[in-house]
Amino acid sequence: MGTFISRELIERIREQADLVEVAGEYLRLTKKGKDYVALCPFHQEKTPSFTVSREKQIFHCFGCGAGGNVFNFLMAMENLTFPEAVRQLAARTGIAIPAVRQEDEQKRVRLENRLWEMNELAGEFYRQCLHDRPEGAPARDYLARRGLQKETVLRFGLGYAPDGWDSLLNYLQGHNYSREEILSAGLAVLSERGRPFDRFRRRVIFPIRNARGKIAGFGGRILGEGEPKYLNSPETAVFNKRHLLYGLDLARPAIREQGFAILMEGYMDVISAHQAGVGNAVASLGTSLTAEQGRLLQRYTTEVVIAYDVDAAGVAAALRGLDMLQELGFQVRVVSIPEGKDPDEYLRTHGRPAWDALVEDARPLLEYKLDQAARTTGDKKRILQQVIGSVARMASPVEQEESIRLIAARLNLSWDAIKSELRRFQVERRLRQPIPDKIANKTHNILTDAKKIAEQEIIRLVIQKPEYLPVVKEELDEELIENPVLKKVYAFVKHPDEQLEPADWMDRLEEGERKTVSRLLLEESPLGDSPGVLADLLKTIKNNNRAQKKDRLLRELARAEKNNDREQVNVILKELAQLLSLPGGEAGPAGKGGKELSS
Ligand code: UTP
Ligand code: MN
Repeated sequence: MGTFISRELIERIREQADLVEVAGEYLRLTKKGKDYVALCPFHQEKTPSFTVSREKQIFHCFGCGAGGNVFNFLMAMENLTFPEAVRQLAARTGIAIPAVRQEDEQKRVRLENRLWEMNELAGEFYRQCLHDRPEGAPARDYLARRGLQKETVLRFGLGYAPDGWDSLLNYLQGHNYSREEILSAGLAVLSERGRPFDRFRRRVIFPIRNARGKIAGFGGRILGEGEPKYLNSPETAVFNKRHLLYGLDLARPAIREQGFAILMEGYMDVISAHQAGVGNAVASLGTSLTAEQGRLLQRYTTEVVIAYDVDAAGVAAALRGLDMLQELGFQVRVVSIPEGKDPDEYLRTHGRPAWDALVEDARPLLEYKLDQAARTTGDKKRILQQVIGSVARMASPVEQEESIRLIAARLNLSWDAIKSELRRFQVERRLRQPIPDKIANKTHNILTDAKKIAEQEIIRLVIQKPEYLPVVKEELDEELIENPVLKKVYAFVKHPDEQLEPADWMDRLEEGERKTVSRLLLEESPLGDSPGVLADLLKTIKNNNRAQKKDRLLRELARAEKNNDREQVNVILKELAQLLSLPGGEAGPAGKGGKELSS
């Protein structure tokens, strides 16, 4: 969408979009003087150093140094390019962007609407073929053989795609849909010679609906044996498997009512379950579960029972999906279905009460994983490593403690050994979470710049306002100052015997140093001289110091790991955890720097 957006327009959009309002949608802003503060979204912190000025329409983080205007904010927050951020804000502020683009947008919406309508029409066609036409007989037999009642078939809107190459094509073209439209709905495919033909032929059709019940795409099952067993719609403008859960439109009320969802693998599993009265069943469409599906489900419940064929080949992939659910805050339990059956088969052979008992007995993910791991190895350490991620991802500390207890009992390991593994996992994970790419490099530079400025301004404040000296002395170690001139000046100011005016010791400085001191004394502080400013400056230095310390510890960790020095590794991990303020790291940083300046 390379539409040109003029500078004037960009300016107008910026003026219309209030940064405080935009930032307020992502962050909890609290008013502080003229400005607003919040926890910085671009680095990890516990006290807010992220500042937004309404007057200046600028944000700045005194912790990591990130800063910019409303566009920069959105770009970093949403991982957008500049034009994307401009467009998003234009949309919010109701400013129209060049005609070309608007037309594109209208075209897109029009095409999508056509696809939705076409899908409904195709669904209708397939249903007719199944129920009302002689060619539907084999499919009707097939579904009856699989134990589906007519009512169920109607409820799920199942259909049949007849044999032949253009039954649906002709039908849709008869309803004024063009070849191109039919192709873009994925309902027809182009032959090598460029002729379109029906994608689904001689297959039972399963319409796949979104949560609101609109048909987004189709799955088609072969009658009997053959490959592929199921053929699905390709990705289209309205069909994205990653965002859909089969059966959710019908399962929503039951999920809410029962307080949990049962997640299955297949279309037939869900249909059988609903027929048996298990109305809270949905399926993940054959792929491994995605975060989008997790978030979709999260609108209805935070408890999920997994009824996958977890003994099969895809276990690892399935488990990754389950970790994701747990990370989203779901309580995850796993059903073990005996005899390697799927829910459909199990329900049909053993009936509803037996199924309910299985669900009742579903075990928490962690227990399931412990079993699973124990099957592949006898090495406790390895088992621990395989399950520790689940523990780390638990949203509640209570749940985490319980899990540690469970693991300790099951593996006969000490509490400490498990905590240590947990800490390692958390540290490693935290380190793998970088600041969003686009600002990472910039932030690094701004961070060091911010430190340079902070050093200077702190020294300025203490020489201008000696009453700040006790606080600064307490908070700022001389060693942390990098600029040699400022370091020397600081040494003078804070020396217990030198409770003197700067004028008294200035003659002991070199010329360059004197220049610096006088400038600092006479120039007005550009940031103001409130205690809040001082607190922010001290924080900047501390954070910077922390970043350096982290780098150093990481280098030491690598060395210790190479030397296989378990004890040293543990010590360093503990320090890292503390530095990163991880829950496993005990209390916050001890001693120096543990105290926060209030403002
Ligand atoms: P299964 O192979 O477990 O099939 O695939 P099933 O659900 O038990 O089907 P029946 O009982 O034999 O009819 C599980 C799900 O994976 C997807 C489908 O969504 C299916 O329901 N799948 C499977 C495909 O998309 N394509 C395939 O070829 C196979
Ligand atoms: Mn099956």
